[in-house]
This record gives sequence, C-alpha cells and structure tokens, in this order.
Amino acid sequence: MSFYEPETIVCNGSLFRLYITKKQIDKRIEELADQINRDYEGKKPIFIGILNGAFIFLADLMRHVTIPCEVDFFKLSSYGDEKVSSGHVTELKDLDADVEGRHIILIEDIVDTGLSMRYMVGRIKAKKPASVTVVTLLHKPDATKHYVNVDYVGFQIPTLFVLGYGMDYAQEGRNLAQIYVINEESEVGPSPVIPDLAEK
Ligand code: IMP
Repeated sequence: MSFYEPETIVCNGSLFRLYITKKQIDKRIEELADQINRDYEGKKPIFIGILNGAFIFLADLMRHVTIPCEVDFFKLSSYGDEKVSSGHVTELKDLDADVEGRHIILIEDIVDTGLSMRYMVGRIKAKKPASVTVVTLLHKPDATKHYVNVDYVGFQIPTLFVLGYGMDYAQEGRNLAQIYVINEESEVGPSPVIPDLAEK
C-alpha cells in the first residue's frame, strides 16, 4: 500500500505545493504522543476529536499513545466551503461520552482564528471535566482573533491556507498524506516552526 503524496496538487481549481512532509508529520506526532504519555500517566484521558478535520491526526496520534485512554468525537463547522472562517460555529454532532470528572484532551487539526477551539473549550468546561487540554497539529498564531490556550502544538505556521492530512478545501483534499500550502504567489513563504514542548 502507498500513501497519496504528490509534490503539487490542484484542488477545486487552486494549486497547492508540498509544505510539511509525511516524515516531518510522523516524527512530530511521535514527540507529541511521548509527551502526552508522560503527562497523563495514571489518568486515563478521553481524546475528543473535532470533526471532520482532526480524524487523521487523531488516528495517528492515538496509535502512539501507550497509556489507557478513550476516544469520542464532536463535529463542528466554521469554514463552510471557503478559505476563510465564516465567523460562526455550527454544532453538527455532540459527544456521546460522559466527560464529567474526566481528563479531556481536545484534538484539532488546525487552530486558525481560535473561534472553534474557544467554543469547544467552553462547551466541554460546561460539562464539568476534571481538566481540559488542547492539542493541535497546526497553529496559525498570527491569525488569532479569539484567544484560546493551546497546550500542545505540532507546528506553528504563518497565516497561509493549507490542505491535506485531514484538512480540506471545500471538502476535498483530506486524503492527502502530507500537508500542502496554497500557491497564491510564487513563493511558499516562511517554513513551519516546531515549538519546544518543554516550554508548554
Ligand atoms: P478557527 O475556528 O478559525 O480557528 O478554524 C478552525 C477550523 O477551520 C479548523 O478545524 C479547520 O477545519 C478550518 N481551517 C482553518 N484553517 C484552515 C486551513 O488553512 N486549511 C483548511 N482548513 C482550515
């Protein structure tokens, strides 16, 4: 079996170029999982994936988690089919798990304006968990409009539109095994930054 990993891809009429490779993603996910294994020893957390975008990251991350844990999903929509957030969060599916008194790890593919994650944290906190931690594969810190504390970050990126590894453009492109960036100008822009987990 081979993964779908072209160098460039046209998605809904826009050209995207390779930005973060599968190798970089895999390495970073192992580091994040190691940290979670250490921080959650003896706690049996519930991982909550925010659908749709987080499903691939969550699946890969969880397979490196060695402590007892559970999983559930929450489904939100904030982008519609556009490249910018609509500014509204629509709740499409609530949790099934009872999170009261439990340690919750929220898993997101990307935190952009912060709207979705801020909403999620509020929604989960209202259910009285023991703790809530936020994990995102990508974070666009310069795009923040709604501040939310992000505890674990895979890569910090500039305010660029990205595709693949669960992230879509008008619902397409989630099946790409690597992360691509839109080719709006000829340059890709600055490289992603890997934050130091020790600084969290
Ligand atoms: P926020 O609410 O503005 O932080 O946006 C979060 C959600 O918007 C993510 O879960 C993604 O579904 C989507 N999103 C944000 N930036 C991108 C992007 O660059 N590519 C694809 N989806 C994105």
